[in-house]
Amino acid sequence: MTQPTKIIFDTDPGIDDAMALLFIEASPDLDLVAVTTIFGNSDIETTTRNALYMKQRFGLTAPIYKGTDKPLVRPRNPSPTFVHGENGLGDVELTGLVPAKPEAKPAHQAIIDLARQFPGEVVLCAVGPLTNLALALQADPEVASLLKSVVIMGGAFGLAGKPGNVTPVAEANIWNDPEAADQVFTAPWPLTAISLDVTTQVVMSPDYMQALEASAGDAGAFLNAISKPYAAFYGSRDGVVGCCVHDAAAVAFVIDPTLFTLQRGSVRVLTEGIGLGQTCLKAEGELFGPSAWDDQPIQAVSVAVDEARLLKLYRETLLAANAA
Ligand code: BDR
Ligand code: CA
Repeated sequence: MTQPTKIIFDTDPGIDDAMALLFIEASPDLDLVAVTTIFGNSDIETTTRNALYMKQRFGLTAPIYKGTDKPLVRPRNPSPTFVHGENGLGDVELTGLVPAKPEAKPAHQAIIDLARQFPGEVVLCAVGPLTNLALALQADPEVASLLKSVVIMGGAFGLAGKPGNVTPVAEANIWNDPEAADQVFTAPWPLTAISLDVTTQVVMSPDYMQALEASAGDAGAFLNAISKPYAAFYGSRDGVVGCCVHDAAAVAFVIDPTLFTLQRGSVRVLTEGIGLGQTCLKAEGELFGPSAWDDQPIQAVSVAVDEARLLKLYRETLLAANAA
């Protein structure tokens, strides 16, 4: 049997972040070595509290490192309480909450130290604004060659699905720190972006969530509870019946990349103007005159997903963990 892949999960829990975190924890293919938190779906105190809550309630052994509280150069956007609730977890009561503290080390330093401790072994999966990743690159540029890969949930390329969710052209994680995102897309590490193009094509229906509650123990019950307001938001705004699977799709890519079809190319992020936060791809091999995409690393972005297989993987992973 192959060794499970070491994974750092950089996250802003967040309802779909919680779905992704419990997916990692349940997967025999992944070894969660750290959770690093970031602002985004809520402020940093709240997202860190939520990660600590989940560690305690679901017995996670991975340490929790608190990330930065603001974007690199601009003020933090207001929290999307209309999607994730005031408490970041759908305003479901956090039963039995015992206040706990994160590790003393800041998130970006934990990323650097783990990359150095396990060179070439760690996948960094980031599903919030990319500020911690940019800070790690700034503090230690060699981190780019020490990680096995970087997988993000972020961006929208207009290749399929939706081209944006906070503006007509910008996805939330990128829009929340466009400068950081541009640094992360143009760093010399192998990066795959699981974007809105595909994450809006994977939907957990109310029946699917109910079945998780019935057969995936406390994790299933918690996920069904927190998903209800999230599904209500997507229903009222986009007419989606159920929950778009954003962050867990990035985790699914780490477990089984064959679920996705990718397009390779260099990516720049717009950091000003009405397109703020737009992710722009120059496909590999396309010829243009001189541009800001020249000599940038070739990364990968998702263009298609096998929804049925991804939903099956998620369900079977949680059920198997509950039965173990
Ligand atoms: C992304 O933004 C956040 O609200 C979600 O957790 C997800 O990471 C979707 O655009
Ligand atoms: Ca997220």
